[in-house]
Amino acid sequence: MPTPDNGKQILRTLPLWEGRRAENQRFEDRRGGVSGSNDDRLASSPPRRASSSALTASTLLQGEGTRTVEPGFGIYVHWPFCLAKCPYCDFNSHVRKGIDQSQWRNALCADLRNQAELLDERPTVDSVFFGGGTPSLMEGETVGAILGVIANEFALNPDVEITLEANPTSVDWARFQDYRSAGVNRLSLGMQALNDADLKRLGRWHSADEAVAALAKAQSIFDRVSLDLIYARPGQTSDDWRAELEKALSLGTEHLSLYQLTIEPDTPFKAQHDKGLLRLPDDDLAGELYAVTQELCEAAGRRAYEVSNHAKPGAESRHNLVYWRYGEYLGIGPGAHGRITHQKVKQATVAAKKPEDWLAQVLANGNGRSSQTPIDRDDQANEMLLMGLRLSEGIDAGRYARLCGKPINPATIEALVSQGLLIKADNRIIATQEGRLVLNSVIAELAQ
Ligand SMILES: C[S@@+](CC[C@H](N)C(=O)[O-])C[C@H]1O[C@@H](n2cnc3c(N)ncnc32)[C@H](O)[C@@H]1O
Ligand code: SF4
Repeated sequence: MPTPDNGKQILRTLPLWEGRRAENQRFEDRRGGVSGSNDDRLASSPPRRASSSALTASTLLQGEGTRTVEPGFGIYVHWPFCLAKCPYCDFNSHVRKGIDQSQWRNALCADLRNQAELLDERPTVDSVFFGGGTPSLMEGETVGAILGVIANEFALNPDVEITLEANPTSVDWARFQDYRSAGVNRLSLGMQALNDADLKRLGRWHSADEAVAALAKAQSIFDRVSLDLIYARPGQTSDDWRAELEKALSLGTEHLSLYQLTIEPDTPFKAQHDKGLLRLPDDDLAGELYAVTQELCEAAGRRAYEVSNHAKPGAESRHNLVYWRYGEYLGIGPGAHGRITHQKVKQATVAAKKPEDWLAQVLANGNGRSSQTPIDRDDQANEMLLMGLRLSEGIDAGRYARLCGKPINPATIEALVSQGLLIKADNRIIATQEGRLVLNSVIAELAQ
């Protein structure tokens, strides 16, 4: 994802099975090239296949085929507060007492109006995403007020997707009906694990039963529900994960975000990991867990449309697709990132990260922006490749050429196809599983 809240790791090589933060993951502030790399793997033996059900041209192209797909326009709203900080999480989330909802409501609405003014044109809104932090700590009135401003400032796609991320504690799910009444039509529930011992280890404040009850409640209120799980947890075997994922799939959500646990810098998990107190699955087991994920999700009709995101056909997160198809979006709230066209130039916006700084800035200036930077065409090319090659539909080479001012060199595409790293289908190019393992190298080649 989606944030655009911090997205700081987007420009590093992502292992095939990593790719968490779908909806909260944004472009890194630092642009101008692809960093961190498994480049050596490009020159050496082909990477290990993670799955026997490896994506093939036919499965990859199922759905979108070869037609040009419009990315759409989205609005991301970041709520930066949580009841407690989970020890693995480095999102822009903070624990604060006595949050003044009406002050935050007014500030988010002001930021939104101000940012809308920046746009050369007012596009039709295809998706709105309330991410966090824990947006299910927002009052229904706050969500409603923000959606009211969006409806005043923009035309809405009649089929607009409005998602809110929720934690499955009873405090949060008591508000689900208020969110529905405010206009939210899709709920994304952070279940994370379906056994109490692992939930405790993850520092979660809810039990597995509570998570299942919250999901049932969400399904009784919203037509569209997604769940998040974190796997590749310490001590998790492939059989454990198989049983847990089978249970998750039996709950019947149309969409699942399944992320392997990542050890992030400056988190309690990192400190434990460094001391040898937290052992993650090794690469072989991680590959096996990834393979189980693909196998069970495919069998249940929840195909991976992105590295870590699975959906019934047609139930993909439209908000995710705005990012991955390299569309434009506003980022509202602390730390939010945006991609907009201002004075005919594509620009990256970043908001002040710390909630108090952001709020003070909005109160003083009417907006929380800390920077607004034009993105040159080379950076646009890198960003588009990095996002698009995570998708099973790949990228549209014609759109790439129009946006980035140059076509991809056909000889480079052929070379990467012959190395088994890309698939070419009419005007689309798609990374194979092997290609995604060395994505930075593939992008560096293509962007030349
Ligand atoms: C920032 S959280 C927001 C959702 C909500 N606050 C929650 O915790 O359920 C978005 C998602 O990121 C994923 N996530 C956060 N930190 C992670 C980590 N270190 N490794 C893997 N996934 C992570 C979790 O699956 C989580 O649902
Ligand atoms: S509740 Fe979600 S956003 Fe908050 S700390 Fe935990 S994982 Fe991070």
